[in-house]
Amino acid sequence: MPKVVIHYKGQRHEANVPTGMSVLIGATMCGLEELGFGDCGGNLVCATCHVRVNSGTFPAMKYDEQLVLDTLPQIYANSRMACQLRVSEDCDVEWMGARG
Ligand code: FES
Repeated sequence: MPKVVIHYKGQRHEANVPTGMSVLIGATMCGLEELGFGDCGGNLVCATCHVRVNSGTFPAMKYDEQLVLDTLPQIYANSRMACQLRVSEDCDVEWMGARG
């Protein structure tokens, strides 16, 4: 299973996530959902799953994902929504959340 590494507030979390599951599921496996990540349950509404992708390969962003990103106060060239990122290989992300 691919390893998902999540950096959040200076701490490193990791989980082995089954191929095809989302990075958001990886956050749940790390116990991070209790901090308010993924409020909408992966329905592409809340933007609390905003991450910056440091490494890993994911399908191109769809229009709906870009619309949600555009609601954030700040986004980056590597910004994505973790609920939309299906894991296919090891990856590394920084969790930004809805703060941008
Ligand atoms: S979990 Fe709400 S937009 Fe991703």
